Amino acid sequence: MYTVYNTRPTFSTGKNKMERKKITIVGAGHVGAHTALWLGLKELGDVVLLDIVEGVPQGKALDLMEASPVEGFDSAITGTNDYRDTAGSDLVIITAGIARKPGMSRSDLINTNSSIVKTVVEKVVEYSPEAHLIIVTNPLDVMVYVAWKISGLPPSRVMGLSGALDSARLRAFIAMELDVSVEDVQAMVIGGHADEMVPLRRYSTVSGIPVTQLIDAKRMDGIIERTRNAGGEIVSLLKTGSAYYAPSAAVAEMAESIIKDKKRIIPCAAYCEGQYGVDGMYIGVPVKLGRNGVEEIIEIELDEEEERDFRRSVSAIKELIDSLEIESMGIKDTRP
Ligand code: APR
Repeated sequence: MYTVYNTRPTFSTGKNKMERKKITIVGAGHVGAHTALWLGLKELGDVVLLDIVEGVPQGKALDLMEASPVEGFDSAITGTNDYRDTAGSDLVIITAGIARKPGMSRSDLINTNSSIVKTVVEKVVEYSPEAHLIIVTNPLDVMVYVAWKISGLPPSRVMGLSGALDSARLRAFIAMELDVSVEDVQAMVIGGHADEMVPLRRYSTVSGIPVTQLIDAKRMDGIIERTRNAGGEIVSLLKTGSAYYAPSAAVAEMAESIIKDKKRIIPCAAYCEGQYGVDGMYIGVPVKLGRNGVEEIIEIELDEEEERDFRRSVSAIKELIDSLEIESMGIKDTRP
């Protein structure tokens, strides 16, 4: 195990020492490395890329550092295989795991990825007990539950990437359909990060105009279907891996809201304690993301159809957690 230090001193002028935030990304694969790039471009902090494979995080970190003069960012990006280099991180993004292959459902990934997430989280919290954790590894809603259980952290500091990505995809499809700027399109997707996700057309707008007034119901059905299958659509095109540009951009958006205490309202997998009638489980809901992590879960009204779809999504996640035999991993299942 070795570390390549891309030394760039933290700006320091004696007493008025200014320190950048420290962000660790575990898993220097497609999603992890691209997340490092977005974080660097946004200068959100110094980034430590960690992977189990020797050389890969070091090589990618160095490559990113060599891109920094071109883009003019001063975040230091370091690659390592050693968790000691992650010590004192403010935020840890976990992408370690195996990616979905064609014909593989997110649930097929469950056993391999849950043991990877377990090992990773144990190490992460040992060295960064104050960190916020964003989980990216799929199947997301189950992995974030496992991560939270293993971490022993308050649920407000452990969350998962789901709706930020799914709503970005829905926004892209709405903008394509209407030939309008993506900047003006807002969309909301709640529920699990799986085929049972719940894209909410009533809460999707173009500059405040409900999309229901701009796109007829049948076309919108098609867009919603495409959003539900968006991850699979990329997998079937790539053939050897899953999406990474949009996932990494979406996780960087969540990171930015936390690091800069922006308090943006972004749908993500959060621990519900009665909200939306869900107790003791993670699922995608709109949350306020700030320096304290998930600062609030925003409860919006759901009509009959949305409520039915959301319940279906809750059941699907419950079944996945049941299939995991969580107690055999040494995790106490405290769901009611
Ligand atoms: N510790 C650290 N890194 C690990 C470990 C581990 N125990 N196990 C695997 N990894 C690393 C791999 O070496 C690899 O570099 O995780 C990385 C995963 O990268 P990719 O295979 O490129 O997968 P990626 O496309 O980045 O997806 C990662 O995000 O969107 C989800 O479903 C996706 O669960 C998958 C995850």
